[in-house]
Amino acid sequence: MNSILGVKIIEDYIQMCSDGVRQGWHERNGGNLTYRMRPEEVDECETYFDAVPGPWVPMGVQADNLKGEYFISTGSGKFLANVHQEPQNNICIVEINEGGDSWRIRWGLENGGVPTSEFPTHFMNHSVRKRVTDGENRVIYHAHTPYVIALTYVLPHKAEVFTRMLWKSATECCVVFPGGVGVVPWMVPGGAEIARATCREMEHYDAAIWAFHGLFVSGPDFDTAFGLMHTIEKAAQIASIAMSASPTGKPAQVITDDNLRAIGEAFGVKLNEDVLNYKSDDPLYC
Ligand code: 13P
Ligand code: ZN
Repeated sequence: MNSILGVKIIEDYIQMCSDGVRQGWHERNGGNLTYRMRPEEVDECETYFDAVPGPWVPMGVQADNLKGEYFISTGSGKFLANVHQEPQNNICIVEINEGGDSWRIRWGLENGGVPTSEFPTHFMNHSVRKRVTDGENRVIYHAHTPYVIALTYVLPHKAEVFTRMLWKSATECCVVFPGGVGVVPWMVPGGAEIARATCREMEHYDAAIWAFHGLFVSGPDFDTAFGLMHTIEKAAQIASIAMSASPTGKPAQVITDDNLRAIGEAFGVKLNEDVLNYKSDDPLYC
């Protein structure tokens, strides 16, 4: 192998960027992807690192459990559609310092640039998900999923309401995200404040909706994280179509709470009880 582009983890990362583009989730520079590298993957890539690392850049957030970690990240302002043609100019590998509060570029963004503007949110989400999954979680993915965004204009910004609507939009949704989906109210993107609000949701859920903006998901690997994004967005699409098609704006019938419990039992997954037991005042948001 004579290029970092032949390293499997880099190939898989590039593939995921292209998969998201194919779904229509990444207009212009919309969306971003980060991956927390395994030590052996860092070893494989190290021979291709820049001779001189970039300068340390403070993030405005800090995490003890990510000190010294390496991440692959999309570049800020870079188009995910261009990642597969020119990975070296659109993605990078960053190292986190021993204080857990700054990054420096070790490879990539050869024409200049910095990791995604959402790096503080990705970083804090990685910290939370690494802790709550005992180190299993490695992927944080943000996309501008149109139907999820559309639903944030019509549903109350409440995790229980969104989760119930999404669970009831297709039979196997509750198996894919039995813990539910969090919701972050509208906030200015790209900083420490939205990072903290998002990781409060990531304590309980492996996905968090950003009102009027998009969706963040986490997962142990690219397939699982992408599959979660895809399943939530498809459920939102079905909900949007069903509500638009109904003359009353309400579904004529739905998957019931008992149906949900039966699916959970049959598939051996424990559905979030707070969500199952949630009762809305408004029958539309069943
Ligand atoms: P970046 O280009 O900085 O990754 O920003 C895209 C985006 O989706 C911001 O929320
Ligand atoms: Zn965004």
